[in-house]
Amino acid sequence: MHLGRTTLSKFLIENLSGTPDGADLAALLVDVAAAVKAIAALSARGALGGATGSLDTVNVQGETQKPLDVLSNTAFVNTFQLGGLVAGVASEEMDDPFPIRAPHKRGPFLAIFDPLDGSSNIDGNVSVGSIFSILRAPAKGEPQTADYLQSGSSQVAAGYALYGPATLLVITVGNGTHGFTLDREIGNFILTHRDIKIPADTSEFAINTSNERFWEPPVTRYINECKAGKTGPRERDFNMRWIASMVAEVHRILIRGGIFMYPRDNKDPSKPGRLRLMYEANPMSMIVEQAGGLSSTGRERIMDVVPTQIHQRIPVILGSRNEVERVVHYHQQFDSGTDQSYKSPLFSERGLYRS
Ligand code: AHG
Ligand code: MN
Ligand code: MN
Repeated sequence: MHLGRTTLSKFLIENLSGTPDGADLAALLVDVAAAVKAIAALSARGALGGATGSLDTVNVQGETQKPLDVLSNTAFVNTFQLGGLVAGVASEEMDDPFPIRAPHKRGPFLAIFDPLDGSSNIDGNVSVGSIFSILRAPAKGEPQTADYLQSGSSQVAAGYALYGPATLLVITVGNGTHGFTLDREIGNFILTHRDIKIPADTSEFAINTSNERFWEPPVTRYINECKAGKTGPRERDFNMRWIASMVAEVHRILIRGGIFMYPRDNKDPSKPGRLRLMYEANPMSMIVEQAGGLSSTGRERIMDVVPTQIHQRIPVILGSRNEVERVVHYHQQFDSGTDQSYKSPLFSERGLYRS
């Protein structure tokens, strides 16, 4: 009954054989899928598997770790270490990159990952995920931290797993964004979402509005206009979602469009954003752009940013093309002093939506 369906392995062979390093990249993505299956099984056991609650350890971000953060990190590190296809790994849950050393074999890639995204949601049994980015390793020797600091446009593959009602793996190797659903009975990822395209227009936005007082004016302007709905300048009603799992948020946008924003704010001047460039923003930007969407800081394409640190944070505005362009335009108007929006009656001193 499963004959004729395209498995992840078949898809990768068809799409990567004949390209430089193609066989190795295909094998590496099969390894990623193996780690994802292990994490899917662990997370599905919930409290039965000891995956809930908090540990008394804090990661390099200053965040208290959950058992599943650590277990997922171990699943990825062990898979990559034994797989022989990467020269080093870097993770949200590890202070520094981890080089692959003898007796393990080094491979031609670097893997950077967020082993468990949205981990504040685990105890509530809300969807969580994993995010990964694959870069080329230096040709010789043990990779140094500087070797990982490549812009997102250098990624050779990227993707995420979503541990929701179904477990999904969504990947790109640079020829579109494709989704696979885990068939738990046979243990295979099956191609279920070929060449996903994000609708260019949307009436749905995702942002944590509890941070509103810390936002910059162009973001406040955009959100106020959405909230004003039919009676505001957009002349249509918008809907809002906030799951606090970037993976779940991005997946919804791939399926039905939308804009996701975790913008620059002044909550903590040492942090220019909430999300991390190398293992959240860059891989999700590649996924979104390969699906026809856009991804920006508001002022610059995320995948053009040259990283300076493994754990650096960055503002993220991604999703449906026309809405992201609009927010970028609002930033340009604000920065150049040509933003006239505050003169409109709706947003004036006495208006309904004064910023
Ligand atoms: P992580 O669990 O890997 O630390 O990432 C959580 C991220 C992201 O998934 C989500 O969009 C955002 O943090 C939620 O932040 P708030 O709690 O500020 O809403
Ligand atoms: Mn995350
Ligand atoms: Mn995480």
